[in-house]
Amino acid sequence: MGADQRTVTRVRRMTTDLTNLPQRFQGKVALITGAGSGIGRAVAQRLAAEGASVFAHDINGEALEETAQLVRDAGGTIATRVGSIAERDECFATVAAAVAEFGKLDVLGNVAGISRAQHFTEIDEESYRRLFAVNVDGPFFLCQAAVPHLLESSGNIVNIASNAGLMGTPYTVDYSMNKGAVVQLTKSLAMEYGKSTMRVNAIAPGGIISTLTRQFSMPGDVDMDLMAPLMGHRGMGVPEDISVLFALVASDEAVNIHGAIFSSDRGLTAS
Ligand SMILES: NC(=O)c1ccc[n+]([C@@H]2O[C@H](COP(=O)([O-])OP(=O)(O)OC[C@H]3O[C@@H](n4cnc5c(N)ncnc54)[C@H](O)[C@@H]3O)[C@@H](O)[C@H]2O)c1
Repeated sequence: MGADQRTVTRVRRMTTDLTNLPQRFQGKVALITGAGSGIGRAVAQRLAAEGASVFAHDINGEALEETAQLVRDAGGTIATRVGSIAERDECFATVAAAVAEFGKLDVLGNVAGISRAQHFTEIDEESYRRLFAVNVDGPFFLCQAAVPHLLESSGNIVNIASNAGLMGTPYTVDYSMNKGAVVQLTKSLAMEYGKSTMRVNAIAPGGIISTLTRQFSMPGDVDMDLMAPLMGHRGMGVPEDISVLFALVASDEAVNIHGAIFSSDRGLTAS
């Protein structure tokens, strides 16, 4: 193992240790979507470990219950709700349920998302609309429902975008469009609420090992030359790489940060 690899491993251990963390979210309530898996689960665990009451949402009830058990086993506070953020009514009902459960809302984490790869001309209407419903409509309506509560609590929104929202990506044209919309949702909300004390930011991860990427398959005949800009030189990250940044951005320590898009992609979008 080379020196560089050793450094990466040591840093990973530090970020995945959820004991003895600062209690930056003591007394705070966080609604996290996509909490059944990957980045959303890691964010739910991290915020709960830092003292938050977490309202965790996911379409997959079994996976969500696993997250809840992990949080409770670690001594954290969590409530759950199963549903699809593709439905506007579910977005509003979820925010209302979080406020009913814990009395207020301080953080909205729009993490849930889906992806798949296809040749552009082969994307059918149904899967195109499904991608937009989950990845764009969901965060939009959750923000709409949450903003009045976040204005009241001087809270904040952290949207999970993607490197795909900052660069063109072959074979995932509609996903790239989705994440570009999440970037603009973040920036435009930051502008509209520029005079308030609410903050709105986004994190744009590069490849992270999760259910999404484990189940991801490219068309068999992809042109690897076109894929090269997406490969990078440093492999994949882990969900905790994102949750550690999420916790900082969502905490009161980040009071100066508003309207920012943070890349955590090991240099993918540096060029
Ligand atoms: N993994 C990566 O490489 C990567 C890179 C950039 C951005 N992202 C983004 O990060 C976010 C989390 O992805 P992940 O890698 O942790 O994936 P994941 O598949 O591990 O987790 C996503 C979760 O969202 C839930 N979900 C899916 N559709 C839903 C719906 N309609 N309503 C409610 N919940 C739903 C899933 O059940 C799952 O638990 C997504 O927005 C994704 O686009 C991921």
